[in-house]
Amino acid sequence: MGREFARLLVERRGALARDHGLEPAVVGILTAHHGSVESASGVDLRKAVRAAAAGGSIESCGRPVRDDSVEAIRRIRADVVIEVTPLRIAARQLALDHILAAFAAGKHVITANKGPVVYHYRRLAEIARTKRLGFRFEGTVMDGAPVFSLFLEAMRGARIESFEGILNSTSNLILSEIEAGRTYEEGVAAARAIGFLETDPSMDLDGWDATVKACLLANVLMGGSLRPEEVPRQGVSSVDPAGVREARTGGRRLAQVARGWREGRSVKASVAIEAVAPDQPLFPITGTSSSLLVRTDMLKEFQIVERNPGLRQTAYALYADLIAIHEGRLAP
Ligand SMILES: NC(=O)c1ccc[n+]([C@@H]2O[C@H](COP(=O)([O-])OP(=O)(O)OC[C@H]3O[C@@H](n4cnc5c(N)ncnc54)[C@H](OP(=O)(O)O)[C@@H]3O)[C@@H](O)[C@H]2O)c1
Repeated sequence: MGREFARLLVERRGALARDHGLEPAVVGILTAHHGSVESASGVDLRKAVRAAAAGGSIESCGRPVRDDSVEAIRRIRADVVIEVTPLRIAARQLALDHILAAFAAGKHVITANKGPVVYHYRRLAEIARTKRLGFRFEGTVMDGAPVFSLFLEAMRGARIESFEGILNSTSNLILSEIEAGRTYEEGVAAARAIGFLETDPSMDLDGWDATVKACLLANVLMGGSLRPEEVPRQGVSSVDPAGVREARTGGRRLAQVARGWREGRSVKASVAIEAVAPDQPLFPITGTSSSLLVRTDMLKEFQIVERNPGLRQTAYALYADLIAIHEGRLAP
């Protein structure tokens, strides 16, 4: 995703300057296995993308970074930090340390990493607000499709009563592949081939990704305080392929459905494999497509569909957040 974002910055350099007055220079890139590099005048992005795509080190694209990632984030002079390290299910995580280091050094933060947001949204949003720094995370749910900016900016004043969605592209793709006669393993391979499988595949296959997204929506949009570990969860790894094909023969589709709803003063969520009938709004959502149906007191039922996104659509979330921060829209 980070690499695709770098490609987007290279390709859209002209449009960013012309349409948004934005001329970003990438002054540091930190990775786990491809080396880390900095350059005050800007890292050679084309060269870095080529080197990383070939599996090599990016360290010839600037000055190698020798301090650890938290220290480097604090030290390197930059306006914005983009945090795209892998998802981890735990309150303590490196991504949180990265974001706190960025805030402590007066840097705006954009992340597509659900972990720090799901566990620490209130705290991080409060630090950003107090320090007048940007904190945006549109890429955490439904890639580049606007979800948080839609509900927190465009639809201000509408109260979300409940939601349901197909939120994990990998699981949906695997179920579609099984429906089409392929095996579970072939479905997993298809997701890996297009770069959609989480770094730790169990995040997708055991339902963690969808559960974290349900909690994010519940916590950020509905004022909940859910932890993914406490939410009922079912992943595609537990599904019997024969059941998937049987449902299809009966005119239904098995889908991993994430739900959130209010119960008295609290907010609940769940993720389960459900049989979806043809007259239900989530029925046509196949392949890597995802969809979120939200019920509010204003617009009643409101559905967003992202049809067959690729990596470019995930990188667009970071791109749109960067433009927003440049324009002074610091939070969704
Ligand atoms: N891919 C998607 O479709 C998508 C969509 C929405 C959100 N996201 C989220 O975006 C994040 C990144 O996903 P991805 O698919 O791009 O994962 P990825 O390909 O595994 O990339 C993760 C990046 O983090 C780097 N990294 C890992 N540990 C690090 C450390 N300790 N210090 C510095 N860098 C470190 C990795 O470096 P190396 O490459 O050297 O290992 C890699 O560049 C995840 O949180 C994911 O949930 C992904």
